[in-house]
Amino acid sequence: MDFLELAKNRYSERFFDRRPVEPEKLDRILEAGRVVPTACNYQPQKFFLIRGEEAMAKLKTVTRFHYNAPLIILVCYDLREVWTNPGDRYYQNYNSGEQDASIAATTMMYEAEELGVHTIWIRGFDSKTVSDVFGLPDYMIPVMMLGLGYPNDRARANGWHYKRKPIEEFVFEL
Ligand SMILES: Cc1cc2nc3c(=O)[nH]c(=O)nc-3n(C[C@H](O)[C@H](O)[C@H](O)COP(=O)(O)O)c2cc1C
Repeated sequence: MDFLELAKNRYSERFFDRRPVEPEKLDRILEAGRVVPTACNYQPQKFFLIRGEEAMAKLKTVTRFHYNAPLIILVCYDLREVWTNPGDRYYQNYNSGEQDASIAATTMMYEAEELGVHTIWIRGFDSKTVSDVFGLPDYMIPVMMLGLGYPNDRARANGWHYKRKPIEEFVFEL
């Protein structure tokens, strides 16, 4: 599919059925997250798979936005591997981790879409709680969770998906 068409077709899935994501598809999705550009090529992105019963039970204590997706990828960055720019006067103590991890997450999201796997971007959680519940070390910073799976028969895009500002509100000449 043409990429722009793919990008327009993607919507946040909030109605998953129980079908698991096939291992071959998951491999491709993770591979898409591996090969992304990162600042200075430091590659600090880390992907934690949440799919077993025990992990899912923990997940449900840290966010209500899981929508029963059969698979969640918790995307983090390793603070020890980020590019930093202490001289940036706008962002204090800037590091590239959130951008690097978000590029990886976005690329995985569109690879999933290409494979017919629906996704939901989840940020409705407290990072410290996630870190504590999953026992992450303090240098592993949670950025987002990507819920993945197949739609059930109630699946549809909600109203927000169709509500986009016109291009003039995004693009400016300098
Ligand atoms: C940074 C970010 C955080 C988000 N967090 C959540 C979330 O916690 N729960 C949720 O249901 N949707 C979440 N979303 C999905 C947005 O609500 C959704 O992308 C937006 O409303 C546009 O709809 P669409 O994705 O269907 O086109 C998040 C999206 C982004 C990019």
